[in-house]
Amino acid sequence: MPSPVEFADAHRARFESELSDLLRIPSISTLPEHRDDTRRAAHWLAEYLRSMDLPVEVIETAGYPLIYAEWLGAPGRPTLLGYGHYDVQPVDPIELWTSPPFQPAVRGGRLFARGAADDKGQILTLLAAIRAYLQTSGRLPINVKLLIEGEEESSGAGIEAYVRGHTDRLRADACLVLDSGMAAPGIPAITLGLRGIVGAEIEVSGAARDLHSGIYGGVAPNPFQALVEILTALKDKNGRILIPGFYDRVVPPPAEEKAGWERLPFDEAAFLRDEIGAPALIGEPGYGALERMWTRPTLDIHGMPGGFTGAGSKTVIPARAAAKVSMRLVADQRPDEIANVFAAHVRAVAPKSVRVEVKTRHGAPPVVISPSAPAIAAAKRALTDAFGREAVFVRMGGSVPIVSEFTGRLGLPVVVTGWSLPDANAHSPDESLDLEHFHKGIRAVMRFFEEM
Ligand code: BES
Ligand code: MN
Ligand code: MN
Repeated sequence: MPSPVEFADAHRARFESELSDLLRIPSISTLPEHRDDTRRAAHWLAEYLRSMDLPVEVIETAGYPLIYAEWLGAPGRPTLLGYGHYDVQPVDPIELWTSPPFQPAVRGGRLFARGAADDKGQILTLLAAIRAYLQTSGRLPINVKLLIEGEEESSGAGIEAYVRGHTDRLRADACLVLDSGMAAPGIPAITLGLRGIVGAEIEVSGAARDLHSGIYGGVAPNPFQALVEILTALKDKNGRILIPGFYDRVVPPPAEEKAGWERLPFDEAAFLRDEIGAPALIGEPGYGALERMWTRPTLDIHGMPGGFTGAGSKTVIPARAAAKVSMRLVADQRPDEIANVFAAHVRAVAPKSVRVEVKTRHGAPPVVISPSAPAIAAAKRALTDAFGREAVFVRMGGSVPIVSEFTGRLGLPVVVTGWSLPDANAHSPDESLDLEHFHKGIRAVMRFFEEM
């Protein structure tokens, strides 16, 4: 009988083709027209787990189902709660994809498809590792519980309610969140911090209807002008957010952690050229680029729907204008407090000639993880071993909303890691996963089971 590691090596092609099968399902949770596809991805995972003889539950929520499975055949050994998400982001602008987003294609050792890096290629390393054990020795070195959601990219409401209501069932000794990335090609990383998020929409209305800008220009309020005035009152040219109280709870990272970032393979000039491609970086003076992305809060405008944006010209003063924005939060900012000070500031700075409505979305708190937990040490050994390069500690600027429930409510030591590269193009055209990292990721998960 082959060892689990031999099994994983012998089944590389099989794991890649299984990943491609999952990637063919366009599980875009935020688009209602992909409702059936998103549910299909959930059932694909359930079938995959059942094919390993694991008892699986497809747990219905108000949104997309959760997949829960467990193997508890190692009494006295630790229990690991594994997490990932099967939903993906929309694919627009689709014309910028080299190959269609839901037809996985290999180029230069990378597998290109929406979800390859975020997050299907990562959860499958966990499932492949489990298969390698169960189909050889018939057992795992530790107990495992799996919770996979389908709303991470849209609302995350379903999993939050479930975790709150099932703290006993989800009891574990540690949690593995496979939804982050590596520091650089070949260099594995453990993520010690994720930013939180609050999303908001500002709706401004002026005149009762669209008006001729020649007849009424100069007297009728323009909601876009008002919106721009509001937006420029939110953040200054140095990237400092002008909302009173916004920074009250911000705590700087420990000096030791920050010192470690100096040794990371981060080259700001190459980063600007290869990942950003703009003429210059922006941000608060006095903070390095990694600090600005990882441990400083920020505010971004995502889009401004309204008015006339078609071809040609239309001389109109629109009746309404809107902006979609979000704020990324860092420890110890609280989403509800930030939503409140944001809404109050928008109302305070809005010109009196327009009506303003502010809607904030349910947010996610930031997460900070202590490097001293034994699970982190175990993960560091496992990653270092599997990749043959010392695993480094990073933070990430993105958000995985449920992680704060794992650290907070469940009180678990959480290992946040993954195989996505900085240039994996998550959420962008030509998203990809390095297949060598995929297979090393499977080995890393297996090592982590052993180290635990
Ligand atoms: N996996 C990402 C978060 C992430 C990005 C972690 C980069 C580590 C490094 C996750 O799927 C994601 O995109 N989250 C959203 C959450 C939002 C929709 C509430 C995000 O960060 O925008
Ligand atoms: Mn993700
Ligand atoms: Mn994502």
